[in-house]
Amino acid sequence: MSKITITAALPYANGPVHIGHLAGVYIPADIYARFTRLLGKEVLFICGSDEHGVPITLRAKKEGVTPQDVVDRYNKIIGDSFRDLGISFDIYSRTSNKTHHDLAQDFFKNLYNKKAFREISSEQYYDEQAQQFLADRYITGTCPKCSNENAYGDQCEKCGSTLSPSELINPKSALSGSIPVLKETKNWYLPLDEIQKDFLNDYINNNTHWKSNVSGQCKSWLNDGLRERAMTRDLDWGIPVPVEGADGKVLYVWFEAPIGYISATKELRPDDWEQWWTGDTRLVHFIGKDNIVFHCIIFPAMLHLRGDGYVVPTDVPANEFLNLEGQKISTSRNWAVWLNEYLVDLPNKQDELRYVLTSIAPETKDSEFTWKDYQTRVNSELVGIYGNFANRVLVLMNKFYNGAIPAKTHNFNTTELCNTYIAPIAKLISEYKFRDAQFGLMELARFGNKYLAEQEPWKLIKTDEAAAASVLQFASEILLNLAVLSEVFLPNTSQNLLNQLNIQISEDEKRAFWEGTKWLDIPANHNIGEVSLLFQKIEDDVIEMQMNKLQQSLVDNLASAAPVAPSKTDVTQVAEPKAEIQYDDFAKLDLRVAKVLTCEKVEKADKLLKLTLEVGTETRTVVSGIALHFTPEEVIGKSVLYLANLAPRKMRGIESQGMILMAENSDGKLYFMQPSANIDSGSGVS
Ligand code: MF3
Ligand code: ZN
Repeated sequence: MSKITITAALPYANGPVHIGHLAGVYIPADIYARFTRLLGKEVLFICGSDEHGVPITLRAKKEGVTPQDVVDRYNKIIGDSFRDLGISFDIYSRTSNKTHHDLAQDFFKNLYNKKAFREISSEQYYDEQAQQFLADRYITGTCPKCSNENAYGDQCEKCGSTLSPSELINPKSALSGSIPVLKETKNWYLPLDEIQKDFLNDYINNNTHWKSNVSGQCKSWLNDGLRERAMTRDLDWGIPVPVEGADGKVLYVWFEAPIGYISATKELRPDDWEQWWTGDTRLVHFIGKDNIVFHCIIFPAMLHLRGDGYVVPTDVPANEFLNLEGQKISTSRNWAVWLNEYLVDLPNKQDELRYVLTSIAPETKDSEFTWKDYQTRVNSELVGIYGNFANRVLVLMNKFYNGAIPAKTHNFNTTELCNTYIAPIAKLISEYKFRDAQFGLMELARFGNKYLAEQEPWKLIKTDEAAAASVLQFASEILLNLAVLSEVFLPNTSQNLLNQLNIQISEDEKRAFWEGTKWLDIPANHNIGEVSLLFQKIEDDVIEMQMNKLQQSLVDNLASAAPVAPSKTDVTQVAEPKAEIQYDDFAKLDLRVAKVLTCEKVEKADKLLKLTLEVGTETRTVVSGIALHFTPEEVIGKSVLYLANLAPRKMRGIESQGMILMAENSDGKLYFMQPSANIDSGSGVS
């Protein structure tokens, strides 16, 4: 039987995993892995931390620790949180381990010996002050496409263009702020232009079954014409380039990280790991859309060059992005729902998160998570439909039959039931349409609910006992099939429900079930187990607390307090120049001098102060994120610069009317902007 090697993108070990990662990559991958295992296929589900690369060095530098400290910390946080969510990896490894270093070096040497690389000397940006070559991420400047002044040497996050550092206008080193100079250096390049002609054009064009968002992106890369790309970099954090004359150089992180899938396989299966990467093995990569070029072009090119029967990716079901409450998820602005925090804040609600994220998975276009929607989906679908159906069946079983399920007398056509409720779901999963598949799961729960509502066995039992028994028996069958169907989507719920039904299903039965050929039934007089509620309602205060958390991130960013979650994008504290505006833009600002009348701390918000301001004859309330910089006493009595016509915003339940403007020094310290003499509050500033 052919093997299936399933991989999920190796997360960067420079921060925890958030709901965008889960919805786009890890939950779909887990559903697929569980599904293929249940079908009896030979499956390995591989993941681990991506522990090299510039974002990690940036984070370490910012925190004043070593890169190894950073990756040790996040490898643990990420691995633990995946486990607690029930993501069923066969291994969660890491790219800083020896197996990986060795294998990645072997792979490089293999291609090097085949003369697969072009050796090219080129001029790269060098920071003379910091005495090192600058990775693309370490260079910032103006985007040539959209004029965003904070573009990075590899990418503009505003317009999404992929860039190279030489394209940036006014490049600047993020290490020292100095202007980098060009200096000659030698690196090894993959001749993607040639590989395109020899292999990639056919490879991409022949994969007609790929998702359209994936093949679309690949084809546009190919249409533009691929260019050679450096597979080694002048950096000190990474895997040393294993050839002579390569001192101070490491393997490009996008060269070695995908090899991490192979080394994790080797770590897990030291004896037969190669079989999972050769022969008629199917290789399936779950990734987000920003990873498409690496998994559909560069990695396949590497595997192709490697030869020796290595497979190339069979399927790359990449997803789009998930937004959060109307904004792009952003690590640097701490605009995210972090998995590790979710697991603490909402204990035992793993399946609720899995359910909601699958319901809104960005499979064909970007989608949106809101806490309100989370609450609604849990309360009306999981509690209202699924949980309600299960509980009604089990409680009635106890009430009328003392927990012993009556013998089957119904004559529903079970082949038809399979064809309607089971087989289509299996098909959808095999086509990577997890959202629709999970919708199908709820269809079965809806069917059960409707059946009970129509038959009303609690009434029927008074007039026709046999009919009532038949109804409840069939309802319990639906429930059993629902429980088994849930295993791939909601593994905890599935187990919980099977425990309540007191039923175990063998692997063979499960396989037949997932093949769409077996409707599961229940032996007569089977005794159910202890009954409890499957899902609890999510109350408003839980949602409010999560909204407040996000609100806090806005406050932290807006009020220019110290950045909360340092990340790959936080490089420099010095304010960047902004795009030119017209006088009219400026004239819209109602700037005033105001005087601080009172000031106090905001409860349970260590960064916030609440101030009342005298603005001429009026008083205004303002919440400001400056509590880490000033005590209330220091602020009272000060004259400040005040933006009066900023739309009011609620923070921690307090309406903040406008904003106090502060200057931020390069060390992150804040200063009030004050008039040079004691002038009237309410005076306009223009
Ligand atoms: N760390 C990358 C990201 O988070 C994904 C790496 S996938 C691998 O975008 F294939 F390179 F490992
Ligand atoms: Zn741009």
